[in-house]
Amino acid sequence: MVSIKINGQSKEVKGPSDMPLLWALREELGMTGTKFGCGISACGACTVHVNGEAVKSCVRPLNSLNGQEVKTIEGIGSDGALHPVQQAWLDENVSQCGYCQPGQIMAAVALLNKKTNPSDTEIDEAMSSNLCRCGTYPRIRKAVKRAASVMQGAGK
Ligand code: FES
Repeated sequence: MVSIKINGQSKEVKGPSDMPLLWALREELGMTGTKFGCGISACGACTVHVNGEAVKSCVRPLNSLNGQEVKTIEGIGSDGALHPVQQAWLDENVSQCGYCQPGQIMAAVALLNKKTNPSDTEIDEAMSSNLCRCGTYPRIRKAVKRAASVMQGAGK
């Protein structure tokens, strides 16, 4: 049994302490917003935040998470409202098949929490380890810029 803090709540997870966080989220806790793509840290579908940093949950063992704050796609909105990045994704019609988008959004939120007005190059660099087989990259970039401007306006 491993105790981890996810989206502000302590959760007990059954299973081996070296279980990857992604498996714990999806299989043990039923939090299926975080997706399985490759399982080898190559696609970014499984991106979550650990202490505010975008990380690949498929290669992050539970025993590395003691005392750490994990945030998933289920935890970024507040009070029933979408996060500005989620709203920008809708406004720019980013998703095509949609499978990689939770990971893309988590990477974008981590970027915008650090850089309030990222350049195209900074966006492309920050998002470069999140792959999209549908090729939605131009819309992703537009949505990140839209969210940046909304978040700046809101003083977030
Ligand atoms: Fe983790 Fe692909 S599933 S990087």
